[in-house]
Amino acid sequence: MVTVNPFDLVIFGATGDLAARKLLPALYHRHCAGQLPQQARIVALGRRDLSSEAYIAFIADKSQKYITEQYFSTDDWRDFIARIDYLKLDAGSDEDFARLAAHLQDAEKRIRVFYLSTSPKLFAGICERLASSQLVKAHSRVVLEKPLGHDLESADQINACVESVFSEQQIYRIDHYLGKEAVQNLLALRFGNSIFEPLWRHGQIRDVQITLAERIGVEGRGEFYDSTGALRDMVQNHLMQLLCIVAMEPPISMDADNVRDEKLKVIRSLEPYTATTVKTDTVRGQYAAGEVDGESVPGYLDEAGIDDASHTETFVALKAKINNWRWSGVPFYLRTGKRMHEHVTEVVISFYSLPHAIYPAVDACESVNRLYIRLQPHERVELHLMAKQAGDRNILKPVKLDLDLTGSNERHLDAYERLLMDVVRGNQTLFVRRDELNAAWKWVEPIMQSWDSSSAGPEPYVAGSSGPDRAGDLIEAGSVGWIEDC
Ligand code: BG6
Repeated sequence: MVTVNPFDLVIFGATGDLAARKLLPALYHRHCAGQLPQQARIVALGRRDLSSEAYIAFIADKSQKYITEQYFSTDDWRDFIARIDYLKLDAGSDEDFARLAAHLQDAEKRIRVFYLSTSPKLFAGICERLASSQLVKAHSRVVLEKPLGHDLESADQINACVESVFSEQQIYRIDHYLGKEAVQNLLALRFGNSIFEPLWRHGQIRDVQITLAERIGVEGRGEFYDSTGALRDMVQNHLMQLLCIVAMEPPISMDADNVRDEKLKVIRSLEPYTATTVKTDTVRGQYAAGEVDGESVPGYLDEAGIDDASHTETFVALKAKINNWRWSGVPFYLRTGKRMHEHVTEVVISFYSLPHAIYPAVDACESVNRLYIRLQPHERVELHLMAKQAGDRNILKPVKLDLDLTGSNERHLDAYERLLMDVVRGNQTLFVRRDELNAAWKWVEPIMQSWDSSSAGPEPYVAGSSGPDRAGDLIEAGSVGWIEDC
């Protein structure tokens, strides 16, 4: 078992949803896997005045349900929580930071990870106080949760403040999609095999579709979501990172900067939107009341914390073009939405149909070779091919080559397990560099500006549907449309 050096993981915003749902269950799993050294400590910080015992009772209630039942044991949980201390901390209080410093004590050589799971508005102030309390050492690292800023300017301001305290090598901008096992598999598929490379380009690939559809709505995060919207919440980060992984050139190595250099080139090759192409190549939607999974659900405007006249989008579909040698002329269709009929995250690569058919025609939907890389709900990589049906006639049928890349019995790590351990190990490959983030903001800004200046507002779609009808119009003629169940 590969363990790591002793570390302190200091979580700002430890009473929040992310800590309970993702960070603590992830650490529990790594604890059970024997990856946390004996001396690893977790320091949970929050504004509430709680004792460590009260905090542990609070998170037991919230976190245990996110731990897969078969991996939960009371003995392991007892040993795990022994690592946790809770301290009350107000991000604006110098005294509270002094108490944190006293608690952590000087540990020049110890790895210290500050995980900022708070509003990005607090990032600059927290970093300044960490520095003035002498808490930032050579082995310190800071993890920044998304969305980092609201636009390029605000992201730049936050980054400038953080970089006045931490060097770029100490900053880990998290996009949890990069930690998903299926994303690692997509990289392995592309760069660990030779057979896909000649096919991975224009002339072979007709289009690429990336869908991130959720059944859930805003889930008690109304206030946050209403000032954010799907473009900032999902497109600028998760969807763009997936697009980069699909479209990037082979990096020289898996070294962090080599990988990030290649992703940056993709973002820089994206054709910028103009006021005209925002109208033709983008669709924004907002869910109205409907039914999801057999249950009636309210429309977005009736959710708690949402402005009655809100124009915030809960659905986005885009047609993107990558202007480089490999991808010229290949449309990339990106789509994300809340309250959709299905929960699915999937990349579908459609190859060109045969130039000349010698077998009897089969349904157009079935006749195209496709590669499906499904991230959720069940990770799966499938290559759809045509094969002959058994019998005395030459009739084709679609078959699926299931590429089980990890082995079905192995437990797949949650994205946060992988990413937290990467931070402790000092591996930045799966984290976003500042220039990447800036380039991503720059690309989405014309869309934000056109939408903001339009009085039209998002197109309504019924909750439990596949989004506004107009999303289908983005797909170029000759394609089968958005791939749902082909
Ligand atoms: C988060 C968004 O980054 O990703 C949420 O803020 C979204 O709105 C979530 O629901 C989706 O993540 P996952 O891993 O559940 O697909």
